Amino acid sequence: MNNFEFYNPVRIVFGKGEISALKGLVPKDKKVMLTYGGGSIKKNGVYDQVKEALQGVDVIEFGGIEPNPHYETLMKAIEIVQKEKVDFLLAVGGGSVLDGTKFIAAGALWPGEDPWEILTGKTDFPLLKALPLGSVLTLPATGSEMNGNSVVTRVETQEKLAFGSPLVMPQFSILDPTVVFSLPDRQVANGVVDAFVHVMEQYLTYPVDAPIQDRFAESILTTLIEEGPKVLANRNDYNAAANFMWAATMALNGLIGVGVPQDWATHAIGHEITAFHGVDHARTLAVVLPGLMHIKRSNKKDKILQYGARVWNITEGTEDERIDQIIAATVKFFESVGIKTRLSDYDIDANFITKVKTRFLHRGMMGIGEHGDISPDQIAEILEHQL
Ligand code: NZQ
Ligand code: ZN
Repeated sequence: MNNFEFYNPVRIVFGKGEISALKGLVPKDKKVMLTYGGGSIKKNGVYDQVKEALQGVDVIEFGGIEPNPHYETLMKAIEIVQKEKVDFLLAVGGGSVLDGTKFIAAGALWPGEDPWEILTGKTDFPLLKALPLGSVLTLPATGSEMNGNSVVTRVETQEKLAFGSPLVMPQFSILDPTVVFSLPDRQVANGVVDAFVHVMEQYLTYPVDAPIQDRFAESILTTLIEEGPKVLANRNDYNAAANFMWAATMALNGLIGVGVPQDWATHAIGHEITAFHGVDHARTLAVVLPGLMHIKRSNKKDKILQYGARVWNITEGTEDERIDQIIAATVKFFESVGIKTRLSDYDIDANFITKVKTRFLHRGMMGIGEHGDISPDQIAEILEHQL
């Protein structure tokens, strides 16, 4: 196992009716900005519960944060935060609202010229300050509720970039599984597949004799495979919703990634599909991962075979035959929850592949993945395999 340091200070308050716990969690002496998305929280009762719990607190609201939150929108929020002297942020929504709020938290105190620098890293300033924030999660998927990551899209330049800092980890996150009841099928499926691929990015690399991390990872994958279809079949199944929600949080709160190599190439390539074509994040991952497993089958052989045996019970045949069966089982699972796995399913053709390759070359990203050996040419091969 590799050396590591693990620190996760996010207080999780989990369970039915727990939105009322905001009363004791949001500081009474702060000016709070409540951030939210396109209005789902006003239809499913979450907004009313939040407002009830915030009685007596000085709150202003900022709605309209889009899926794949836009830099352009978040800059408007930053302006209001600065003008109104907001000193606490409460994000109520899915990963996009949480990520957007993290960017607002860091951007509002950014000493440089333009907070976009936080995402490009092209700056002399380190990120040293951010406003404190808390969250009420409404969509299990990203793990944003218990990590310090944020992904922001700039519409003007069709770029989707990420930053990470412990400074933007929420002080608390409320996870009430009943929020799942109002999710459309598309978002449940997205959540299951996004969480699944988060585990794969931290697991499907090479063995370093870390059985705790491996078995935690496999248990999250198995839970998603078992509970995801239950949630899709019956949105009011509380236990299935609770298990799905906790699985998604555990998939990306840092725990399973400690002391092991990590990949993240599927995400890096997937972000380009969203940046150029607006495809939902999870769907991009379902397209890239099978291609990546195929192209990196020899590098990743040991872990692919372990995943196949322990998660899918695939143990018969030569190594190559098993790997083919394991990729097919993974694709079948994604398709079974309603997510297509080919670029052509999203009307994307080979021109896109050229644009992605050029973009990685221009950024000087000559090798990604756990070995740093997925070159722009190999990225193109992965995508060509998925045309
Ligand atoms: O905007 P509203 O009206 O709230 O509707 C949202 C949105 O349309 C809706 N929704 C959310 N909760 C709902 C609901 N509808 C009904 N009932 C509810 N309870 O769902 C739609 C999608 O929401 P969004 O927040 O965009 O989805 P998700 O949570 O999947 O977040 C995706 C974003 O997170 C980033 C992605 O790149 C993408 O931008 N990621 C963040 C990560 C992180 N912070 O660690 C890691 C991930 O890999 C990912 O990159
Ligand atoms: Zn993801």
